[in-house]
Amino acid sequence: MNNSKVALITGSATGLGRSVALKLASQGYNLALVDFNEQAGQETLQLVQEQDIQAIFIKADVSREEDVINYVEKTVETFGHIDYFINNAGIMVPMRLIHEYDLNEYDRVTGVNLKGAFLGLKYVIPVMLENGGGNIVNTVSSNSFKPTAYNGLYAATKHALAGLTKSIGQDYLDLNIRAVGVAPNTMNTGIASNAFTSLNAEREQKLMATTGPNIPAAPEDIAEVVVFAATTGADMLNGTIVNCAGGQIYQ
Ligand SMILES: NC(=O)c1ccc[n+]([C@@H]2O[C@H](COP(=O)([O-])OP(=O)(O)OC[C@H]3O[C@@H](n4cnc5c(N)ncnc54)[C@H](O)[C@@H]3O)[C@@H](O)[C@H]2O)c1
Repeated sequence: MNNSKVALITGSATGLGRSVALKLASQGYNLALVDFNEQAGQETLQLVQEQDIQAIFIKADVSREEDVINYVEKTVETFGHIDYFINNAGIMVPMRLIHEYDLNEYDRVTGVNLKGAFLGLKYVIPVMLENGGGNIVNTVSSNSFKPTAYNGLYAATKHALAGLTKSIGQDYLDLNIRAVGVAPNTMNTGIASNAFTSLNAEREQKLMATTGPNIPAAPEDIAEVVVFAATTGADMLNGTIVNCAGGQIYQ
């Protein structure tokens, strides 16, 4: 039941990106999988190829412009068009007070979460425009609404990506391109494995106090929302950020 639509997913080697890939594959979408983790990316490729779809894996560091140009070109060469762009690759850096972050950490987290996301939009949107339109999901965060303690740089990138999402909703309203931000809170993946290493017990307690009650999610749970936002929900959710914090409300 291949449905000939094409989804390009960054950060698809593990976590949420892999879950989105599996769900889209089960619904018959063709996939371009992008990640800089080649081994895990190839594993995702093998898993999605168990379905009746076409899929490719392209190794890329999303923070490098030449890699982004290459993943977009390879996708267009293979499939001819991009219908859905899941702009999902992201990282965390060790959690600190703002003045304790060094410039290298600033460059890393902004390079992937903001510059990388922007570069994806810069090169995917022209392909969508040429093809009459398309839908974009940017993976943002609860930190796009309210930062947790010691997470200032990450929160800044996710606020900025929420801003880009809302701007796409305005800029392309008449051009048939839609964008939705999907904002998980606590999702069971490996992204935070190095983020907590910088915290002592006291700081961990303060972090938890600023997190607030929520229902922890598996990546499969958030993938349901991403796939809906990218496909049937895109028109009505256009330019909005979908809060997936499982009970925590942000005003
Ligand atoms: N896990 C959470 O609690 C949580 C909460 C809110 C938002 N998010 C966001 O969800 C998204 C997916 O993260 P996840 O939780 O699935 O973690 P993850 O670490 O499992 O997935 C992130 C993926 O991005 C890839 N990646 C990282 N840097 C890259 C680069 N420079 N170039 C190419 N690929 C790169 C990684 O290899 C990995 O496959 C991220 O944008 C993250 O900020 C996660």
